[in-house]
Order: sequence, then C-alpha cells, then structure tokens
Amino acid sequence: MPETELTTGPEEKSELVFFVNGRKVVDQDADPEMTLLTYLRTKLRLTGAKLGCGEGGCGACTVMVSRYSQAQGKVLHLAVNACLAPICSLHGAAVTTVEGIGSTRTRLHPVQERLAKAHGSQCGFCTPGIVMSMYTLLRNHPCPDMDQLEAAFQGNLCRCTGYRPILEGYKTFTKEFQGCCGGMAGNGCCRNIQNGQAANGHAENGQAANGHAENGQGANGHVANGDTVNGQPNGNAGNGWTEDVSTELFQVSEFRPLDPTQEPIFPPELMKSAGGDQTTLKFVGERVTWIKPATFKEVLELKTKFPQAKLVVGNSEVGVEVKFKNCEYPLIIAPGHLPEINFHRYTEHGITFGAGCTLTYLNDTLTEAIADLPEHQTRLFAAIVEMLRWFAGHQIRNVGCIGGNIVTASPISDLNPIFLSAGCTVTVASHQGGSRVVRMDHDFFPGYRRTAVAPEEVMVSLDVPFTKENEYFLAYKQARRRDDDIAIVNAAFRVRFEEGTNVIRDIGLSFGGMAPTTVMARNTANRLTGLKWDNDLLPEACSSLEDDLPLPPSVPGGMAEFRRTLTTSFFFKFFLSVQQRLNIKDVPPPYRSACSLYHRESPHGSQMYQEVPEGQGREDAVGRPIMHLSALKQVTGEAVYTDDMPPLQGELYVGLVLSKKAHAKILSIDPSAALQMPGVEMFVGAEDVPGSNITGPAVMDEEVFASEKVTCVGQVVGAVLADTQAHAQRAAKSVAVQYEDLEPKIITIEDAILHQSFFHPINKIEKGNLQEAFEKADQIIEGELRIGGQEHFYLETCAAIVVPHGEDGEMEIYCSTQNPAKTQMLAAKALGVPANRVVCRVKRMGGGFGGKETRTCVVSSVCAVAAHKAQRPVRIMLDRDEDMMMIGTRHPFLSRYKVGFMNDGRVVALDISLYNNAGNSLDLSRGVMDRALFHSDGGYTIPNVRAVGYVCKTNTVSNTAFRGFGGPQGLFFAEGWISDVAIKCGISQLKVRELNMNREGDLTHYNMKLERCQMERCWQECVKKSDFHTRRRQVNRFNGENRWKKRGLAAVPTKFGISFTATFLNQAGALVHVYTDGSVLLTHGGTEMGQGLHTKMVQVASRVLRIPTSKIHISETSTNTVPNTSPTAASASSDLNGMAVKLACETILQRLEPYMGKGSWEDWVRAAYFDRVGLSATGFYRTPGLDYDMQKNEGRPFNYFCYGAAVSEVEIDCLTGDHTVLRTDIVMDVGDSLNPAIDIGQIEGAFVQGYGLFTMEEQVYSPDGVLYSRGPGMYKIPGFADIPVQLNVSLLRGAPNDKAIFSSKAVGEPPLFLASSVFFAIKDAVSSARADAGLKGTFRLDSPATAERIRMACQDQFTAQFPAAEPGSFKPWAIRL
Ligand SMILES: Cc1cc2nc3c(=O)[nH]c(=O)nc-3n(C[C@H](O)[C@H](O)[C@H](O)COP(=O)(O)OP(=O)(O)OC[C@H]3O[C@@H](n4cnc5c(N)ncnc54)[C@H](O)[C@@H]3O)c2cc1C
Ligand code: FES
Ligand code: FES
Repeated sequence: MPETELTTGPEEKSELVFFVNGRKVVDQDADPEMTLLTYLRTKLRLTGAKLGCGEGGCGACTVMVSRYSQAQGKVLHLAVNACLAPICSLHGAAVTTVEGIGSTRTRLHPVQERLAKAHGSQCGFCTPGIVMSMYTLLRNHPCPDMDQLEAAFQGNLCRCTGYRPILEGYKTFTKEFQGCCGGMAGNGCCRNIQNGQAANGHAENGQAANGHAENGQGANGHVANGDTVNGQPNGNAGNGWTEDVSTELFQVSEFRPLDPTQEPIFPPELMKSAGGDQTTLKFVGERVTWIKPATFKEVLELKTKFPQAKLVVGNSEVGVEVKFKNCEYPLIIAPGHLPEINFHRYTEHGITFGAGCTLTYLNDTLTEAIADLPEHQTRLFAAIVEMLRWFAGHQIRNVGCIGGNIVTASPISDLNPIFLSAGCTVTVASHQGGSRVVRMDHDFFPGYRRTAVAPEEVMVSLDVPFTKENEYFLAYKQARRRDDDIAIVNAAFRVRFEEGTNVIRDIGLSFGGMAPTTVMARNTANRLTGLKWDNDLLPEACSSLEDDLPLPPSVPGGMAEFRRTLTTSFFFKFFLSVQQRLNIKDVPPPYRSACSLYHRESPHGSQMYQEVPEGQGREDAVGRPIMHLSALKQVTGEAVYTDDMPPLQGELYVGLVLSKKAHAKILSIDPSAALQMPGVEMFVGAEDVPGSNITGPAVMDEEVFASEKVTCVGQVVGAVLADTQAHAQRAAKSVAVQYEDLEPKIITIEDAILHQSFFHPINKIEKGNLQEAFEKADQIIEGELRIGGQEHFYLETCAAIVVPHGEDGEMEIYCSTQNPAKTQMLAAKALGVPANRVVCRVKRMGGGFGGKETRTCVVSSVCAVAAHKAQRPVRIMLDRDEDMMMIGTRHPFLSRYKVGFMNDGRVVALDISLYNNAGNSLDLSRGVMDRALFHSDGGYTIPNVRAVGYVCKTNTVSNTAFRGFGGPQGLFFAEGWISDVAIKCGISQLKVRELNMNREGDLTHYNMKLERCQMERCWQECVKKSDFHTRRRQVNRFNGENRWKKRGLAAVPTKFGISFTATFLNQAGALVHVYTDGSVLLTHGGTEMGQGLHTKMVQVASRVLRIPTSKIHISETSTNTVPNTSPTAASASSDLNGMAVKLACETILQRLEPYMGKGSWEDWVRAAYFDRVGLSATGFYRTPGLDYDMQKNEGRPFNYFCYGAAVSEVEIDCLTGDHTVLRTDIVMDVGDSLNPAIDIGQIEGAFVQGYGLFTMEEQVYSPDGVLYSRGPGMYKIPGFADIPVQLNVSLLRGAPNDKAIFSSKAVGEPPLFLASSVFFAIKDAVSSARADAGLKGTFRLDSPATAERIRMACQDQFTAQFPAAEPGSFKPWAIRL
C-alpha cells in the first residue's frame, strides 16, 4: 500500500459514483490506474468502445461524457478518449457508449443507421468511435454545418473506408444538406432537387456530392442522359452504357429522421449532486492514490506536503507518460473541477483564463471574443484559435487544459510559442508563498520539460492580452499530417510598430521544435528592433535566425535542415503577411500565395457504377450495392472481435518480453523479479515449448521464443502470464535479459548490399536482348529510387485467445488472423501434436491488409505454448507499440535502373535491380519481391527487360505482406522512370505514357499475353472524365501566377496481376449446410477483415440457391469446417472462395431439384430431408491454367489482370512542404461488380491507404534498429482531412471478366497504386517551383513525398541557407530502412 494512502486525504476510501448509459455505477474499490476504457470493457462488459492505440491518437475508444457545469448552468456533452480517461476522473459524470444509443435488438439511432447504410463501416473497429463522435456533435448541435462535421472527426482514424462514405452518410445531418426542408424531401433539400442537383447532399457550385446533377439527372442520382462530370457530358452517350449507370449507393429517403427530443436525459441525481463537490475524495489502488480535493486550498496544501504529486486534469500528457514512458506517479491530485482554476474574466488588458480551462473552452471563448471585439484587439486570439484547429482532435481538446500544456513544457507544445511571443503572464500559487505572477519569457522554460513553476506551486491562471492597432500576430505549425498531429516545427511571431510607421518597436519570435524547450530568438529580436519592415529586413532576419536556432545534423527528431529551413520560411510568410497588412509596399501578386491561410472546401465527388441488367430478379443480390452484412452490428458495438469475447474461467493474460537488441547473444533471462509481482503466475520461454521451437510461415527460419540469440528488436524472448493485462505487462517489463552485442548489425538495404546479406536464390526475369536494345536506344537514363515501408495500422491490433481442452492435446485458438490454417499448423508444430488437435476460429478482424497473413502466428504460437504450460486459457491483445515493433510492415524497396528509349518517348530497354528489406526472416519476402518484379513494367509494354530481385536479410523485424504485396513498389519505380523519360524527351508525360501503354495482345516481360486488356479504356475514360487537358492549362496558369503555392497534375495507369504467385495457394473450399427450417449456414476458406468477403459470398450463394440473402448466415471461418485454406490475401479470395461456394451450392441445388416443383424453398428442403437427401455439401476450386516457370520465363503466373487509371491534382505550399489533394478521378475495372458499394469502398479505401504510403507514412528507425514511430503519435496515417477535396470514382462498365465468379474481378489490392497519381502530381508541382528557381530537368524524389521531402525539393534561397551535412560526418538520429 502506498505511503500516501496513510498520510493524505480522508481516512476511508471513497466510493466512485458515475452513470453509464443511464445506469448508476458505484465502485467501492476503484483503481486510479484503470482507464475508463478498461473499466467499460472488463468490469462492465461493454465492449463497444475499442482499444486502437491507448494514446488518444485513433479515436476508436471515443465515448460521450456529460457533466453538469455549475458555472455555465448547463449539461456539457464531450467526446472523450476512454483510453486516456482515468476511471476516477469520471466521478459525478454520465458516460454514454455506443451501446447506450441504440442496438439491433431495440432500434438503431439515426447516427448508427446512416453510417451503416452509407457503407461507412468496413472492418468496423473504428466505427463505434466514429458513431460516438457524431452522436456527441449532434447532442451539442442537432443541425451542424459541414465545418463542424469535419472538425468532429479530427480525432478519429479509419484505415478501411477512405472516409468518404462516412462523411457522405453524415452529411445528411448537416444544414447544407437539409436546407430549407430539413432534408426530408428525399435525397437532400427540395430546392436542390428542383434544380436537378444534389443527389446525395452537397450542392454547391452546381455540383452534387454524390453524383453530378446537371443534364437532367434525377433526384436519386440516376443518370438518365449520359453521366456528367463538372457539368460536362462524358462523351459516353450512345455507347450503350448510358441508361444503366447509377450514382446512388444508398437511399436517403430510407433514413430515420433525427429527433433530438428522444435522447436520454442527464441523470437528475448527478445534476443535484453537481454542486456537492465539497467533499474530498480518495481512491486508493495497488500503486497509486487519487485525491479529488474539495477546495483549492487543499490542493495547495497537498502540493506543499507532496511536491512530487502529479496534478492531473485531462491526463492527456500524464496518461501517455504512464502507459508508454513507464513513469510512475504514486500520488495524483485532480483539481480540474475547482472554480479557482476554471473561469475566464475580461480585464483591461485582455482575458484571464483559469489554468484548468480546457482547450475547447479556450477556443470557444476566444472565438466569441473575436466576433465581439475590434479586429486589431484580437489578433493574438485569432492566432490561438487558428493554432487550436490543428491541435490534436476534439477528444483531447475537450479534456486537455491550458495549464497542462504549459507545465508539460513540451519542446513542441503548440501554445507555448504563442504565449511566449505574446509575453503572456501566468499566476501561480503555493500554500506558503501565496500567489505570484510570472511572465512567460525566455526564462520561463529553464530546461527540457521544466518550467519556472516550482514543484510545490500550482498554476492558477493565464493572462492573454489584447493586441494593439499597430501590432500583428501570426503563428505557424508544420507537422507530418495537418490534422491532429504534433508539430515538427512551430513558430509564433509578434511585431509592434512605432505608431504610424513601419519601424519596429518591439518584436517577439518564438519557436517550438528547435531546441529542448520552446525558444525565443532573442538576438534576432534585438537586431530587428528599430529597423524598418522593408525588403532589407528579410536577409537580416534570416541570417540572424540561423545563428539563434542552430541544430546539429544528428539532432534528436532528425530533419535538421528541414527544421531550420522552416524557421526562415515561416518568418518569410510572416514578413509578407505583415507587409501586405501594412500596405507600406505592396507584395508582388505571385508572392501573395505565401500569405494565405489554409482553407479547403468540404469534400465532395461522385461514385458511378453499372446497374444490374434489366430483368434481374429482385431477390438476386449479385451486382447490387447491398450493405456489409455486419454493418449494423458494427455501428452498435455488437460485432464481436477477438478481445471482445468474455473472459473464460481461469484465464490468464500474456505479457511479452521483447528483444531490445537488433543482433545479440542472449546471456541470461531472469524472470525472478517478475515472478514476485502481484497476479503473476509463471514465465514461459524457449525451454517450455513442448514441440518444436523452430517455426516460420514460409520456411522454417524462425523461433517461437528466441533461444540463444536475437536477430531484431521486438523479437519474442519470453512471456509472463498473470491475472490481468496490467499485471502481465508490468511484470514482462521486469524480466531481466542480459545480452552481448553481435556484429554485424545489418539494418538498412545499403548495409545488406555492403555485406551481401541476401536470401537466395536471387530471382530474375529476363526477356529480349538488352545489350542490343541499349545500343540502339537514342537516350539512356540511369537512376536510383526508393520507397519506404508502411505500417499496416489495422485498427485492431493482433489478438488471440487460446483454450486448452485438456484432452488429447486439443486446443482451440480464437485469433485475429487472415490465415487460420497456418495458425493451426504452426501452433500444432510448437505443441508437438498433430494438426487435427488444433482448431483455429476467426469470426472477424478489425482490419488486416496483409499484416495478419502470417505474422499473427508469432503471437498465436507463443500463446499456444503458454496455454499448454499453464493448462489454462490465455489471452493477448498487443498494445499498439508492441504490434508496430513485432509485426513487420510493407517492405521498403530500393531500385537501381537503366532505361533505354527513343527520342519520341518509346521505351526499348529496362534493366532494373530491386532490393527489398526483408528483415530477419524470409516470411513472404520472396513472394513480395517476385510480384514487384512482375509489376516492374508498370502499365507499359517494353520489349527488352531484365529485372532482378534481391531479398535483403537484415536485423530488423521480418517484413511481410501488405495490400499490393510488392506490386505497388514495382509499379512505382516504373512511373518514376517513365516520367523522367518524358522530361528527357521534352514530351508531355501523358503522351509518353500513352505511347508505351499495354494494349490488347501485347506480351508482358514475363511473356504473358494480355487478353481483354482494359488499360486503354480505363485511361481514356479517366483522362476525359477528369478533363485533363483543360486542367493542365489551368494548372500551368496557376503556377505562372503564384510563386509560393504550386499545383501539379498527374495521370497514372495500373495493371495488377490476380493470383497468388505461389501457385499452390490458388485453391479454396466451401461447406454449405441447409437446415430443415430452410436456413443455410455457409462456411468458406476466407476470413472477414472488413473487405466484405462474407457479404459477397452470401450474395453468390443467394444467387445460386435462388433464395434471399436473409436466409444465409456465415458464422465464422474455422479449420474444422474448411481445412487447408489459403490465407485471405492476394485479392483473390472472392474469386477462389466464390467459385467454391458456387460449386457447393450447385451441388445442393441439384439435390433439391426433384423437389422444386411447387411450394417454397422451405418445403423443398423439408421434402428432401424426409427423403433422406444430404443437405450438406462441399465445394472445391482451383484456378486453372497457372503454370509460370521463371527459369524459362514462360507460362501464366496470373489468371487475369485488373486495370485502372487515376488523375490527381494537388496544391503544395513550397515554403512548408504542406500539400492538399484538390481532386482525384479514378476509373477502375472490376469486371461485373458483385457489389458496387463494397467495390467502391475497396477502391476508395485502397486509394487513401496508398495515399498514405506515397505521401505521409514514414517509419522512423534509429541507426541501431529501434523503431521510434510506434504509435499514432509519430506514425501518421491519413485522416478525414486528407482525402481529396473532390473524389470521383467510376467502375468501368461493360467489361465482364470470363475468368472469375459471375464475371467479376478482384478489387482489394489493384486500386492502391492509383494513389501514386498524388505523388506524381506533387512531383509535378515541385518541378514548377524548381523551374521558378532556375532548376530544370529531372530530379529524384523518393516516396513518401513527406512535407520534408517536398519542402527540401523546392529549392530556393531558404533551403540554400541550410545545406545538408555531409553523410558519414555525423551519426544520424534516424535512418531509412
Ligand atoms: C493524442 C494527443 C495529441 C496531442 N496533440 C497535441 C498538439 O497538437 N499540440 C500540443 O501542444 N499538445 C498536444 N498534446 C499534448 C496535450 O494534449 C496537451 O499538452 C494538453 O494541454 C495537456 O493538458 P492535460 O490537462 O491533459 O494535462 P495532464 O496530462 O493532466 O497534465 C500534464 C502536466 O501538467 C501539469 N499540470 C496540469 N495542470 C496544472 C496546473 N494547474 N498547475 C501546475 N501543473 C499542472 C500536470 O501535473 C502534468 O505534469 C497531445 C496529446 C495527445 C495525447
Ligand atoms: S484507443 Fe483511445 S484514442 Fe486510440
Ligand atoms: S472500418 Fe474503419 S478501421 Fe476498419
């Protein structure tokens, strides 16, 4: 028991009282270390809210917390991250979870219904959080506007949908959608419909969000007269498609209206007791005591007595410190409710805010002030409000307080630079010293995470001053992602002039991200004071900032040149903005682009697909946009994921001991300290493996537990079993492992090349005569290009529950895996039992994307061994950081190429070597490399090719499958060199691509003939629909008129081969049971990870059996129903399993035929049963004709190809590297779509995931092979605000595929690469910036095109000021794998 418990607060432990979904919860023994999320999920068994990250970065855990505010006299409803909210902070609050607002058993809330019906839920793991963010918004604003809608999701991530359908569904709640009639006229406002607009919402500029509406388009989006894009006919009239095109994926008229009066009321009991905070509460846990003082005086007394006690208000800093930085705070004081730190007050000089005011409160109060007061007085307020737009998400701003941000003293705090430049003051108080006022100046932050506030002091308030008429204030921030991200560098600038002049009276320049603390550029300020604000000032300021803000090349955080460049670039923006405002000397028009604040329109676009043929039966679901079959369960939180399963009796939790070394000998493992810890049962290691410790999904080159040495950071060394997750994880950290470093430590591809560390054999595809072709070529280019790895970031991390049955070695594994068969086989091998004793079951996954194809076996095999040793059920769900460390990612690739081409742009020869970083084991890396080799021709026909693939063995975690499986990397390099060919030839990129494009009958470099090649059709349609040529001219014009903002436009094609390249995997099985009541239980070999496979399979079965989908159920995938299944991967699962399902259903149908004369389906089934006819059948399918031989370079590796094309337009900020995707048009060939809603969802989801790959997602590794980017804080996937402002997706019509089920095509992977159109559009924009700086010709831009790469490629006077340090002259903080 902590000492503090004996010496502080009341004698007795207090009762924690709060409400959850209207029910009162009283806990006599609340543990201060427990979060609300854990409490809901484990104690109350409300598993709707999900754990996606545990650090406030994904929003999957969002719930609504309501409190009665005495000060405001009303109930406040706040979206909150349950993963960061300590349970003790909930005293007196009412919590609403997704279960509390509606269910499939009672009725759905409109927020749930609309998300499901608009196809806004795929895997569903993010869904409860998104529902709750929307619900909270509507509780506060029953008819929000689009800005409010978009802002509500700043703290929510989704990895599946690409966000568009979520916004589309929820737009129907907005003012813009509802218009004058409340949206009740069917699809949107009646006025828009009368105007022939707005099929599904947004109706500005004569366009509709969900389908363009001119040319007589009806209210439901059906194109009667040829579809139109931007009001332009697309030229398809008369080609036979025009009558059967639909843009409607859901029916708004089906939506139930929102009735705010029906929402649950705030518990009256809490209203009454809200004023009763007069009692001090004390909650005592195993290690931590939590005190909620009744008075501020008590807070000061406690702080005097216990200066090291932590004050906690929002817990958004402290929670992360405890969870991820192993900080321990035995005494917590929670003063957030006290009026002394919760107020705002206007004063003569500005507004004073209590330090406990939340950031939302700060924002709202300042926004009101801006509206009420003269503009000049509120320039500082405006800068704060603008900065808060980019500060975390709603969930964090709703709880995080001003004092918390200041006192944390983060070097990248967004507010502290503003407060410093503004010269704000804070009032602090202590029990003995009373209160004092401290100015926030250069002395305020004396060191890393230290402030001028003494340990025994408490911050009471902050004064935010008004600005004067001759004073200007602006703040800037550049992050990896615009929304909800911490800054790389931020800055705040204030300047005040002598009255009526442009002479600087005083100036404040503060920066974050440039030192261990927020810093002020004081020398610069001194040098500039007294100078005039004219063009001579700029060089003076820039050179002085360079001196004031030095960064060594090895600086923690890396990016030294970029960060330094940002400081002067930001100042330049400020300089021009003030110059413009002063009107002293007009800023040249092209330069004004540096000053504009970020603004983007609400996203909109269209989705077009072919309707089912006339005459198709109403009950035949194939080809219709039916909803994901689990969607309703996902939006209500009823869908069960692995960790949602109730605990089993005697269950233990597995805490993993992971290697901290990249390459080292294990000298000893000592679990003794861990074994002494509370709740711990045992340690499990290599010696406990009853079968074989040697394992591996492809070849046996791994160990279940590292036995003698470790070969990467994150490798499993051992496991601790304990009664709870917290105990197991804590104990695992206490296991002492001694290592001895081994050499060499091979981390990067370059290291592997140096050490010739490759997996053999080295595969090669060779065609034609390269030497001759290069000799004949007019020109040759040689180059090198890289593309980084990509973290899967499925929202549900890897999870498993393993249950030993105690008999014959039987064991049951519930696992979140794409590969039940491999899970079963590898567990059996580790256990030393035949596979028939192990059953693996998969209900659904919260996303997979390839990350759960093989690497989950690492986790499930460890758990199987643990369950065997304990002979008790065990459970694990990896924390996000563990998952990111242990489970490999998309492979980073390096290519070295030589391309020969003619002056007209025709490519005649390609010699390319590809290197991928496989990590410490082979896993699927060879398959990934082979696919990259197959796709290294892009969408082009090249007569002479040599493509060689080196699979690099390194001391990093084993990399694995990821949507596209090497394809996107191969395709990316092709687009890289082809755009350089165009530049070298001085011909447009579009023309060079068209010239070399694959055509019907062409032979690929692996000698496969292209049949039914839809490449050109996709391309031409996309170029036309996107109005490419007109927009090219517009982009050129824009670039001519703007120096610091540039636009870029690019088109890319894609051709993606469908089939597993490991031929044996192209097989599938299905099992159909028909029960005597007519219901059908369907099982097949594929797993459901959100991609809608089960929905499609039910559609297939429904068509074959000729019964409605409602009669068919899929419960799970399991190895005891369909054996020896291939992983659900390679986009082929609908093709393979669909055929197997079809065959099984056909067998059943054949057997039923004799009974099908009269009566219903149920009658036939019963008649057959009584006639003793078997009502269960299997189906088995193998893809025919796959016979590729790489040695001979002949045969067919693929069943067929998917084709597509995309055009993207972007705008970049040349000074910061920021970018916005203005528009993307996609035309994708999916054959005859089985389900257009699912297919469009896959295309958009893949596109946004690919967008992350090509622009934003960057793994950050230390030179010693330690992953820094271990969570959403540092690893950024695209958010709601990153999707294209306009996104138009068309499914190619009239292109049936004779090689797959019901003429459909695969869709999961092929569209991902189309996102590279954004990358090449960015490159196009950068070229324009470089041209302005006098730089012409080709240049290298590696993927991802991060803000850093964009900024540094836009070379100008600011980048020239900070040249890169010579590689090798310093030890970098981070490296690229
Ligand atoms: C997902 C996520 C995103 C974030 N994004 C951003 C961002 O974009 N920009 C940014 O700047 N920050 C960001 N943060 C950091 C954090 O949210 C803010 O710093 C927030 O303001 C902290 O407030 P809090 O109430 O949650 O602090 P807490 O965690 O409760 O406390 C933080 C510290 O402040 C001390 N403290 C609190 N109040 C007082 C007081 N009155 N007197 C003395 N000490 C006090 C506490 O003792 C503690 O040391 C983010 C955090 C998360 C988890
Ligand atoms: S789990 Fe809470 S924000 Fe990710
Ligand atoms: S549906 Fe959003 S993460 Fe899967």
